[in-house]
Amino acid sequence: MAKLIDGKRISAQIKEELKAKVADLKEKGITGALAVIQVGDDPASSVYVRNKKRACEYIGIDSLSYELPEKTTQEELLELIARLNQDKKVKGILVQLPVPAHIDENTIIKAISPQKDVDGFHPQSVGALTIGQKGFVSCTPAGIIQLLKRSGIEIEGKNCVVVGRSNIVGKPMALLMLRENATVTITHSKTENLKEVCRGADILIVAIGKKEFIDASYVKEGAVVIDVGIHRDENNKLSGDVKFDEVEPLCEAITPVPGGVGPMTIAMLMNNCVQAMTD
Ligand code: GUN
Repeated sequence: MAKLIDGKRISAQIKEELKAKVADLKEKGITGALAVIQVGDDPASSVYVRNKKRACEYIGIDSLSYELPEKTTQEELLELIARLNQDKKVKGILVQLPVPAHIDENTIIKAISPQKDVDGFHPQSVGALTIGQKGFVSCTPAGIIQLLKRSGIEIEGKNCVVVGRSNIVGKPMALLMLRENATVTITHSKTENLKEVCRGADILIVAIGKKEFIDASYVKEGAVVIDVGIHRDENNKLSGDVKFDEVEPLCEAITPVPGGVGPMTIAMLMNNCVQAMTD
């Protein structure tokens, strides 16, 4: 039986620590707000945004909510961001993605001040991570590092294979594992012999967005498996990118879906907000 890496418990622990830190800062007169912007009313985005605002409330930081209509122009959105960049009360700015097709995502990401880029998506934040300088780190990969460390899993010197090369998860994940002194391989849809490469992993991190793609034939006995995927079937049952029932018996440790990586993203967003308040 593999050890289950409990993201629910670990994220709750991180939020408790942050709550105490925010209370401490408040006593010293240090406060700040997170501005959360949603353009349009995509239902999945609305759920994420609501959860982010709730987390702010829980740890004791203010959230400012901007729910803009679908037809908002790029210029209007840029004007709002420029205003929030100047606002001293606002320590973090988050534009929920995806934005409507008539708005260019990269232009929006670049408009957010790197000092307030709590998502860690700005090219300056990504560049800082790449060369080991201080900056905000993308929340999901930062959360995975916390899951590993707080579960007592050694990273240094291990073979880590990351499946998926997205800007939000795969690439920053690989950089963070490198920073922790793992030997890192990034794989993707064009990788030859993917199975063999994955079977070389001591730590296998899967973020490809394909339901139950990774079965037992991709996993070495005794590996640690981190599943970033989340898929909902017609009966509302959630599953990941990994065939859990088949892979779990092989592993030393594995994240469940739900309750593994998922809850860590918001905990790390809160961590970035607290970092933004104290920088
Ligand atoms: N959409 C899906 N994930 C994210 C995220 O982490 N941040 C933002 N801003 N939008 C998202």
